[in-house]
Amino acid sequence: MLKYLSGFGNHFVSEAINGSLPKGCNSPQKPPRGLYAEQINGSAFTMPRHSNQRSWVYRIQPSVMHSDFTPYTSKTSFIGSPFDNNCPPNQLRWNHLGLPSIPTDFINGIKTMVGQGNTSNLSGGAVHIYSANKSMDSYFYNADAEMLIIPQSGRLLLKTELGKIDVSPLEIAVIPRGIKFQVLLIDSEAYGYVCENYGVPFKLPDLGPIGSNALANPRDFLTPVAAFENIAGDFKLICKFEGNLWQANLTHSPLNAVAWHGNYAPYKYDLRLFNTIGTISFDHPDPSIFTVLTSPSAVSGLANIDFVIFPPRWMVAEDTFRPPWYHRNLMSEFMGLITGKYDAKPDGFVPGGASLHNRMSAHGPDNNAHSKGSTKELKPEFIDNTMAFMLESSQVWRPTEFALNTDKLQKNYMACWQNLPNMFEQHVE
Ligand SMILES: [Fe+2]
Repeated sequence: MLKYLSGFGNHFVSEAINGSLPKGCNSPQKPPRGLYAEQINGSAFTMPRHSNQRSWVYRIQPSVMHSDFTPYTSKTSFIGSPFDNNCPPNQLRWNHLGLPSIPTDFINGIKTMVGQGNTSNLSGGAVHIYSANKSMDSYFYNADAEMLIIPQSGRLLLKTELGKIDVSPLEIAVIPRGIKFQVLLIDSEAYGYVCENYGVPFKLPDLGPIGSNALANPRDFLTPVAAFENIAGDFKLICKFEGNLWQANLTHSPLNAVAWHGNYAPYKYDLRLFNTIGTISFDHPDPSIFTVLTSPSAVSGLANIDFVIFPPRWMVAEDTFRPPWYHRNLMSEFMGLITGKYDAKPDGFVPGGASLHNRMSAHGPDNNAHSKGSTKELKPEFIDNTMAFMLESSQVWRPTEFALNTDKLQKNYMACWQNLPNMFEQHVE
């Protein structure tokens, strides 16, 4: 049973061995137990205090002890910006991509589906699907992005330089930009989604008139306690930098921080703890009420990326078409399904699959969902055993060559809307 520290964005303190954390200062002349002090800054030094993120780590040897980086030699579909291929406005939907048939770890099992923005400008992001049947031997850090990991099947053990996180389907984990980690499989296979956020780190959304509680509550976010590996050997450190993967050699494990303190740290969250808000009178509210985490842009209210979920919930609205309405949107929407069915698309949108509705591309309930939603008796109904999510961005999600050419892309997605009847009663007196 792993131990965690509770709270979102707290200034945490943790030491794996008592007395390994300096008292009262960050960089004493001789840190305790012969450790090296190292600061990791996730924001510019000069950011305002409320958005300044940094941690001090006390490690057996400093992070700079590695060989030169050279291009990564393994074959991978994990790519980065620029995403400059021709982007169609088409609504797209993919089936489950399948599990690997050859030994594949988390990094080699990542397939990039969509992306946008620019890592150099600290804006935009990418969405990937991972499938793995093998634990990583190497270590990894991402200079381009923080990584939101959304397991769909199979549990993961994330060994990070700030401690260990176990994460299961219906939970998420976030690894900040630059934090070194290794993904071990707890089960024989693992599959899920990763959102790379090139922009401002995810934070909890403001609640406005909702008040001081609800949606994702801060105390339910869990950060690991310090844990370290004091091992020598031949290890590989993979790095994602400016869209490309690189590798360097190490003579020791990079997960060698014995103690740390600060507010720049990985965390996990159980999506089942989300306090869902919805109507208790009429109409289907905007899905922004389901926002778990948001990466803001420089424009107030305009997200770089919002992470939104559609959890189990009561539907009680009266005289209301309860499924999502038909709509077109400035924001671009990449969706995935962790379990169950999504109420607007009970057929065809499968767990492990994905859909994409980009800027102003029309979408909404399919033929069957519309028929049922407009005729069913409106008694209180609990939508159970479901968890869909959406990664919504103010920039268009550009599908990759892989995503546009895989045989998992559904060729007939548009058919789900094409039998919506003309029911207009033009001549009713
Ligand atoms: Fe939508």
